[in-house]
Amino acid sequence: DSPIRSMRVTSRTSVGGIYTVLQTKAKITSDEWGENYFLMGPYLEQNVRTQVELIDPPHPAVRRTIDSMNAKGCKVYFGRWLIEGGPYVVLLDVGATAWSLDRWKTELWESCAIGVPWYDREANDAVLFGFLAAWFLGEFVAQCEEKPFVIGHFHEWLAGVGLILCRTRKLPVATIFTTHATLLGRYLCAGSVDFYNNLHAIYHRYCMERAAVHCTHVFTTVSQITAVEAEHLLKRKPGEGLGKFSAMHEFQNLHAQSKAHIQEFVRGHFYGHLDFNLDKTLFFFIAGRYEFSNKGADIFLEALARLNYLLRVNGSQVTVVTFFIMPARTNNFNVESLKGQAVRKQLWDTANAVKEKFGKKLYESLLVGNLPDMNKMLDKEDFTMMKRAIFATQRHSFPPVCTHNMLDDSTDPVLNTIRRLGLFNSSADRVKVIFHPEFLSSTSPLLPVDYEEFVRGCHLGVFPSYYEPWGYTPAECTVMGIPSISTNLSGFGCFMEEHIADPSAYGIYILDRRFRALDDSCTQLTSFLYSFCQQSRRQRIIQRNRTERLSDLLDWKYLGRYYMSARHLALAKAFPDNFTYEPPEETAAQGFRYPRPASVPPSPSISRHSSPHHSETEEDDERYDEEEEAEKDRRNIKPPAMTGPVPE
Ligand code: UDP
Ligand code: G6P
Repeated sequence: DSPIRSMRVTSRTSVGGIYTVLQTKAKITSDEWGENYFLMGPYLEQNVRTQVELIDPPHPAVRRTIDSMNAKGCKVYFGRWLIEGGPYVVLLDVGATAWSLDRWKTELWESCAIGVPWYDREANDAVLFGFLAAWFLGEFVAQCEEKPFVIGHFHEWLAGVGLILCRTRKLPVATIFTTHATLLGRYLCAGSVDFYNNLHAIYHRYCMERAAVHCTHVFTTVSQITAVEAEHLLKRKPGEGLGKFSAMHEFQNLHAQSKAHIQEFVRGHFYGHLDFNLDKTLFFFIAGRYEFSNKGADIFLEALARLNYLLRVNGSQVTVVTFFIMPARTNNFNVESLKGQAVRKQLWDTANAVKEKFGKKLYESLLVGNLPDMNKMLDKEDFTMMKRAIFATQRHSFPPVCTHNMLDDSTDPVLNTIRRLGLFNSSADRVKVIFHPEFLSSTSPLLPVDYEEFVRGCHLGVFPSYYEPWGYTPAECTVMGIPSISTNLSGFGCFMEEHIADPSAYGIYILDRRFRALDDSCTQLTSFLYSFCQQSRRQRIIQRNRTERLSDLLDWKYLGRYYMSARHLALAKAFPDNFTYEPPEETAAQGFRYPRPASVPPSPSISRHSSPHHSETEEDDERYDEEEEAEKDRRNIKPPAMTGPVPE
């Protein structure tokens, strides 16, 4: 019904960063395309039950399309995805048309010589999904009374077949292909084990990916670093597009609140060994897909061991508790971790029971006009109860490194590295490690916080990835005002480096993993961590304020432009008689940079990476006016101008 009667189709998978992109981008895309925006994905009963409201399609042509496909044996569903923006979704049941697999694979072979072996279930599903998606698009175009202008935006190789068919069948659909990571890049960077384990599945998947990349009208990647990769491995130079989020208020208060929840967990986990000051404890974390070396968990652990040593020999008061949130195969929480929380709960209950009795006696005494006799406030029974509770906190082992029973305990890379480095949470360790091999959830009996709350409560996110096309986790930290470490091999790190004059002043530490040897990178990472530990509370607060000021840079309001522009370019290429594309001026955006924060001296001392300046005391008397600085920065910062995607 819009002036250009367009329809946009996105196929989605639901893992990690990609899912976040599609979900968070839905709102701004709905704002632009309204009722003409449709997401398209595989029908997964479990997800549909909890996230989708099935409805009758309001567009007659869509309804006719679905009816016609269902009459021919397909199972196509239509609904609203219950997320912000409530976009329409067309869901294709891949299993229901599995009987067509052989016929469709033959067509794929005959039209573009891509052969998919029988044993690769994921690739077979990709074929089924692609044929269904293309069937839907072809049928839709046929069912429309007036010629529609359709844009099909396909993400990742899994959705690529649909795009390839749109082109081989010459459907009037403007196509965009976005890759979030290249297949070859991911496999090559994962190291030898992963490479050989996946060898049988790589080539034909790569063919599908490469064919989609070369067929599409517009090709984009999620970052500059993936663009470089795509240019070499897929042989096409893409444009760019990425991001999410808007600023949130009160992030400092939220930090304090969420930190209190994490501290509660730590009290339980370290029961019997709480010989460190929680008020001087910093929480670091790494999170995401469990790809040990791609995500930089290897270098992070090594740096933690070095940090442990530095804090110890320098007699630091600071303790660091580090969380690894990376899903691995487990069978539930382990007893020791659950027991920790139970012991903590019991101490809490005991303290409350005693407090209650104490309060009552105090009240009675005040009622009759006397100051209480402190010696009579607690009786023998109270002491017995408290002693019993304290006995329960004795423990003969160190607080556990892992919260779960791991299925592959003896071969797990995180655990084995911890064993090698000896980071066992002993009293002497200033760096403690907790491996939580499952994503977080507010219903957990152990650490009942959701991921966002957890991030807010931490002090520093550490993402020293080797292979990271974009990397949502550091971007999420930024918009919540939490400093992070990323690398110049991640899309996020490169993007920030390009747009901020002094990233570390803003709590964006960018590790050099591109031009340095592994050991040098590890030294640099250690120095980031150590200097972070030397900051006073006040300096951390100032730094969080600065970090949060970068939120606008990562907002879909800006980043959405890259996608918007890609869609206009696709329309102009597919329907040249109806649309023209005018590339936006390029220079403005390229020149855009956040300046160094006003209160940072122009040439920071070499050894101290993170301005604000360091001081030894918590009560830092540095003359600093946050409001004034924010105001000065605001005057200096001009919002980034729009750049268009770069046509090949
Ligand atoms: N995440 C989550 N729960 C957790 C930990 C992580 O939902 O307990 C999400 C996180 O919000 C982020 C995504 O997982 O959006 C990881 O995306 P990223 O791009 O950093 O890496 P990927 O895992 O896709 O390689
Ligand atoms: C926020 C709160 C402060 C609190 C601080 C703790 O800024 O508003 O009240 O003191 O967090 O910061 P820290 O870095 O020590 O967790």
